[in-house]
Order: sequence, then structure tokens, then C-alpha cells
Amino acid sequence: MQHLLRAADLSVDNIHSLLDSAAIFEQHITSRTRLDRMQGRVLINLFAEPSTRTRLSFERAMLALGGQVQTIGAAESSLLKGESLEDTGRTLSCYGDVIAMRHPTPGAVAALARGARIPVINAGDGSHEHPTQSLLDLYTMKRRVGRLNKLVVGLVGDLKHSRTIHSLVDMLAPFQPQLVCVAPPELGLPAELVNSLAVRGISALHADDLSTVMPELDVLYVTRLQRERFEDLALYERLQASYHVNAASLVGAKKNMVVMHPLPRVNELSPDVDADPRAAYFDQVRYGVPVRMAILDALLDALAADKPAL
Ligand code: ASP
Ligand code: CP
Repeated sequence: MQHLLRAADLSVDNIHSLLDSAAIFEQHITSRTRLDRMQGRVLINLFAEPSTRTRLSFERAMLALGGQVQTIGAAESSLLKGESLEDTGRTLSCYGDVIAMRHPTPGAVAALARGARIPVINAGDGSHEHPTQSLLDLYTMKRRVGRLNKLVVGLVGDLKHSRTIHSLVDMLAPFQPQLVCVAPPELGLPAELVNSLAVRGISALHADDLSTVMPELDVLYVTRLQRERFEDLALYERLQASYHVNAASLVGAKKNMVVMHPLPRVNELSPDVDADPRAAYFDQVRYGVPVRMAILDALLDALAADKPAL
């Protein structure tokens, strides 16, 4: 049984092969080729938190592969009656071939996977991880910057609670990035993540002022303050006002630098950046479909062949 629960589940070879296969699927999407690789197969989406991109791109990916999708929200499921995540996983396995799940509690997707008899994909578990987002982030970096090795990546915003950041730095680690964190002290990277990066020879530098590091960056990765993870909403309001990236912030940036954001954005990234050719966040949205096609294909292909996918 193979699941995709954390960025660390993917080796460098897995990452390269998924990105290569996503590039092929991207061509299929562009040419509107009909695929039937997932004919007769069903993806079950279980989303216990709001989502626009992840949920719809998983659905689109499965449909584009010729498969079908069944979706259930947590508020409609028997989780609300107190059913365990393990029993829910076992139950969903009776109806589908693969599960994509989002949940507000870190570790909840892993708990469901323990009961499941089919592959489970983590579509975001609380402030823990969001590995499929990182794969599409790497795809975007490769497409836009032309390489993954030794990128200088500025991480802006809520590095404490952003699951996209946690998975991203873990997935980028084997490619030896230089990380520059631009975040208030209350919202820095979790200490255990910093330590695990240090063990791999990666230091996460801190910059108080984005403008001082802007000329060095290959990637500027902006994140929303994760309001739903704050216990103290007054702190959220105070920090929320403390940073804002706009067109003027890009003065001095490299010509081929890319501005990324997992979206949704609130106030931290101004729409006046959208017209800049370096803005890549709607490319990220678009690339979510071929990248998730590659993930579904790898997991189900391996299941059919009874071999490890990852
Ligand atoms: N959509 C991303 C996530 O679900 C980022 C965000 O919500 O800020 O983690
Ligand atoms: N990037 C992302 O996960 O978006 P959604 O929360 O809309 O799925």
C-alpha cells in the first residue's frame, strides 16, 4: 500500500519522474487528447476544510484521465457522528480506488490512511503538510526558472502555520536551496523543521526587510496569514497589517525571478503584481491539474502492477 502523506514520501527520483510525467499530461490537456487510463476507476474526495484549487484540480485530473469522482464534505459524513478516521478510511475503500483528503487536524489524513485499503493522498492536514501543492510548486519553478538546484528562495508571511511552506522546504531540501525567511518572529519556521533542514546542510537565513534580499532571489514565495490557525485574533490583525507585497516591492528583482503564492491571497499580495511577467501564481493553479494527473497515475499504476509507486 502506498500513500502520499508527506513531502518526505517522495525521493528525488520520484520527484523527477512525476514532474516528467506531468509535462506529458500538460501536453495532453493542451491538445485536449482523450485519455482512458483511469477508466472504471473512482477518486473519492473527502474535504473537511474549504478548498477551491486542490479539490477541483483533483477532480479535473481524474476526469481528464477517464476516471470518475465522488465527493463528500466532512459535514455530510458520519465523521460527525463520531466514526473514527480509520473506519472512515476502510469504508471509503469499499467505494473507490484512491482517496484525496483535506482535514484541519495535523495527522488526520495519516490516521485515515491506516484504515484504508487504497492509496490516500494528503490534500492538506491542518498546519502540517500539503505535499501535492509542493509538487506543483516545484513544477512551476522548473518551468519558469529552468532548474531546481540551488535556488535562492524568499519565504514571506506565515511560515509557522503554512502547510504549503512546510512541505515545500522539505521537498526542495535535496536540491540544496538557499532559504531566506521574511516573517515576523511570531510566524517563523517551526524549530523542528529548521533543525531537520540544518541536518541536511540547509540554513534558513532571516531578513527583516524584503527589499534588501530581493536582488538575490530566484523565487519569491508569498503566503497568506493562516487566520484559521490563530488562537489570538488580535495578534492576527496586528501581524496581518505588517507585510504586503506589491509591484513596488519588486524593484531590484532579477528579470527572471518568479513570484509564487499557493493562493488564496487576502491582503498580502497586491493585484498590481498580476501584470508583471514574473507573477507565476495563476500558472501554479493551472499546473495543479497535470501534476495531480501524474500523482494519480503513479499511485494507481503501481497498485495495478502490485509494485511500489514511490
Ligand atoms: N490553499 C493553501 C492551503 O490550503 C494555502 C492557503 O490556504 O493559504 O494550504
Ligand atoms: N492552494 C490551495 O491549496 O488552494 P485551495 O485551498 O483553494 O485548495
